[in-house]
Amino acid sequence: MSATLPSSKYEIVDHAYDVVVVGAGGAGLRATLGAAQAGLKTACVTKVFPTRSHTVAAQGGISASLGNMGEDDWRWHMYDTVKGSDWLGDQDSIEYLCKHAPAAVYELEHWGVPFSRTEEGKIYQRAFGGMTKNFGEGPVQRTCAAADRTGHAILHTLYGQAVRRQAQFFIEYFALDLIMEDGECRGVMTWNLEDGTIHRFRAKMVILATGGYGRAYFSCTSAHTCTGDGNAMVLRAGLPLQDMEFVQFHPTGIYGAGCLITEGARGEGGYLTNGEGERFMERYAPSAKDLASRDVVSRAMTMEIRDGRGVGEHKDHIHLNLNHIPAETLAERLPGISETARIFSGVDVTKEPIPVLPTVHYNMGGIPTNYWGEVVTKEGEDSNKVVPGLMAIGEAGCVSVHGANRLGSNSLIDLVVFGRAAGLRCAEILDPNEPIPEFRNGAGDKALDRLDRFRHASGSTPTAELRLNMQKVMQNNAAVFRTGETLAEGREKIRGVERGLPDVSVTDRTMIWNTDLVETLEFDNLISQAIVTMDSAANRTESRGAHAREDFPDRNDDEWMKHTIAWYEDGDTDIDYRPVHTWTMSNEISYIEPKKRVY
Ligand code: FUM
Repeated sequence: MSATLPSSKYEIVDHAYDVVVVGAGGAGLRATLGAAQAGLKTACVTKVFPTRSHTVAAQGGISASLGNMGEDDWRWHMYDTVKGSDWLGDQDSIEYLCKHAPAAVYELEHWGVPFSRTEEGKIYQRAFGGMTKNFGEGPVQRTCAAADRTGHAILHTLYGQAVRRQAQFFIEYFALDLIMEDGECRGVMTWNLEDGTIHRFRAKMVILATGGYGRAYFSCTSAHTCTGDGNAMVLRAGLPLQDMEFVQFHPTGIYGAGCLITEGARGEGGYLTNGEGERFMERYAPSAKDLASRDVVSRAMTMEIRDGRGVGEHKDHIHLNLNHIPAETLAERLPGISETARIFSGVDVTKEPIPVLPTVHYNMGGIPTNYWGEVVTKEGEDSNKVVPGLMAIGEAGCVSVHGANRLGSNSLIDLVVFGRAAGLRCAEILDPNEPIPEFRNGAGDKALDRLDRFRHASGSTPTAELRLNMQKVMQNNAAVFRTGETLAEGREKIRGVERGLPDVSVTDRTMIWNTDLVETLEFDNLISQAIVTMDSAANRTESRGAHAREDFPDRNDDEWMKHTIAWYEDGDTDIDYRPVHTWTMSNEISYIEPKKRVY
């Protein structure tokens, strides 16, 4: 790095808490609230105001087998989730998710989430992709919705509840790095963007709820803030990330803008057509059609475009038709996307189709955990070794309930079920009367050295240029379809981008709302995850869920029914594996045997 390290030291403001949650999206807020409720001194540190966290953008709903619109059963939900995951999901975690989902949704309702209602006043549920009744027999309406602003409603409710329980919020604080001592997490170093001060948090437990890293790609539904900061901190702590090759493309991002058009639009009866006006999903998924799982629909759309049957002058997108749905239904059930379509594509959904394209939406991979949210790593033969003092939940975590492909509306439920589980686990293993361990001398210095390196970087390449280069490589080389060749080229190119980092130019040296520096730290976070994603994808020589290798078109359970775990240091990725959990949590359901996925 062409930077002169300053001799001045930062003044550090110290804090001590039983639990420090990093991130205030749905998972972070649910864990904060749970830990505070348990009488633990709890802080939530967040780089954006809580109600601006990316959960606010979740539209279509939250899955739970309430059975309000017809018979349902958590075992059917579990079957769909295992199948959706293409048998890479851990079945004990999936059982935990699906079994606890109804109670988690009722809890949200009682806390005040304004769900849409049926005529009888029950929570309204809509159809979503891959959700079926009776172990795959036919579609079921399982996705609980607050119109198409479900995440918004949940986030506001959880924030209110967490404040009510006296959790302390540190808002617009950027987390710089974990503080690790002898393989245990002791706290986290942060930067208060508002006044430029440095804050060091000592804690018995740090819970990472920092979301995904969609911004490694050029076109994504993720907010600009989705830079996977927690994942990158974990890599820098010498711990692995899991299943990073599995990146979900949502079928209906607005063409050109990338904004999400909820799958709930297809759940309410919307359908896709190609340039010939054909409802092509009937060919690819004769039974589920437009409500097949997202990986299947995204691939079908991509194949239609590749085969010259796209829509528009360049035949490079697809149409989502909603104009046959009564205008009153659109206004009541899909008001948000009606507005988004008008603003971002100039379309009146009551009259015209919306131009759409598969767009990066979700990272199935992340920080490996057990179903209490405790971070695990592999040491010797032990692939479930708990990292003391550290948890990860939400999109940052890889618990792994989504395996190789997540079903729509299984994310919001993941946030609240495992956010709640983390709070319960903290209550079980932490004693509020025990002292919070002191730091050793120099705790957090490495984080400040890194901050300084970037703050004083005086190269010639703007961060924005490096970021754009990274996003283009990821978009082109780790796309919906991959080959050994595109991935090998991607590995070279993404390392080429990373080699540009020592020449990065940061022009603002101040500490108050220095967005130049924030974006550089975020880029540094993104690039390590981009490399691990590319390397993990090149390494997995099969097709499974969202990872579609044209040179290895089949799923290969004999060799590849295992989780990738990847460590990263200085441009090198070290890959190993953890077994998929083929056991369930209880004897209320037995292991769901792998079979070919047909929709
Ligand atoms: O399509 C959607 O509303 C997105 C939901 C999800 O990703 O779970």
